[in-house]
Amino acid sequence: MIPTLEWTPAGVSFLDQTQLPHEETYVLATDYKEVATVIRDMITRGAMAIGVSGAMGVAIGIQNSTATTIPELNAEVAEICDHLAATRPTAVNLFWGIDRVRALYDKLAAANTPIPEIKKAVVALSQEMYDEDIANCKQLGANGADLLPQEGTILTHCNAGALAACGYGSALGVIRAAVEQGHKLNVIADETRPYLQGARLTAWELMKDNIPTTVSCDNMAAYLMGKGRIQACIVGADRIAANGDTANKIGTYGVAILAKEFGIPFYVAAPWATIDINTAHGGLIPIEQRNPREVTHSNGIQMTPDGVGIENPAFDVTPAKYITAIITERGILRAPFTESIAAIASAT
Ligand code: MRU
Repeated sequence: MIPTLEWTPAGVSFLDQTQLPHEETYVLATDYKEVATVIRDMITRGAMAIGVSGAMGVAIGIQNSTATTIPELNAEVAEICDHLAATRPTAVNLFWGIDRVRALYDKLAAANTPIPEIKKAVVALSQEMYDEDIANCKQLGANGADLLPQEGTILTHCNAGALAACGYGSALGVIRAAVEQGHKLNVIADETRPYLQGARLTAWELMKDNIPTTVSCDNMAAYLMGKGRIQACIVGADRIAANGDTANKIGTYGVAILAKEFGIPFYVAAPWATIDINTAHGGLIPIEQRNPREVTHSNGIQMTPDGVGIENPAFDVTPAKYITAIITERGILRAPFTESIAAIASAT
């Protein structure tokens, strides 16, 4: 299991994803502000990982508090949650993680639970969420495995693997489950400019698992699809609107359009926590704009002329009409997604 993040007695330990694939080093966050920095600076990244990190961030903030009364602690918890929530706007899992721990806190605080007990309970919940993430990914992997061919090549974009979660992954979880069941699969990892999650992270973790992997530049997908080299596409998600529109790493939308053009199935794999039934459609999903330096520089070397304009949206939204199915731990959703999502939402 890849140790993406872990609660330890000293703080939350994060595998530093900015250093992969060259170095496996760890960053220890000992308070909520350090957890927020880890999320903002993408030391950890990926929707599920930042969801659990957000939960652990709230838990560590409460654990470290020196407040002696509930009103004092209430004020601190509000500040902790706001600070963590201001790190990255697109992945709904972050807000889900923060809100879940906060809801438990609010319930216990309202009941005047002794502060030491509150501390224990919120830490325990954040650890449960870590375990749940692994279990959900394994379940959605098992649910989706048979959608992938018995033999063939699967294209994925960005990193929706163990590194984007607590240790198994969503899109790569489905691939892992299929391989565990005996499918003979090769993976094409889009390099995923500008941050290179595919080239650096997906390739690294799949090679660790001995799953045959090839990196291709983002602009090679049409060529490869046209040559019949790709049998299915599978990606993760940062936020899925109530109508199935899906925000994921920038470039996903283009892959989905190409897949439709070439008649290749395009799957989204995500835990239910990524579905945001309060957002009606993809146009309402906030898209993070990141530092232009991620585009202008590579390994510290400037690639573009001084002063040129730069775009750096971190995510795009794939309209639901391009998605063959959404694979969750609660089942496989198909169009019309507004109905299939609502049916599962109302059953829970
Ligand atoms: O900017 P990142 O690296 O956090 O973006 C990650 C992605 O877009 C993943 O594909 C997504 O989070 C799904 S995997 C949980």
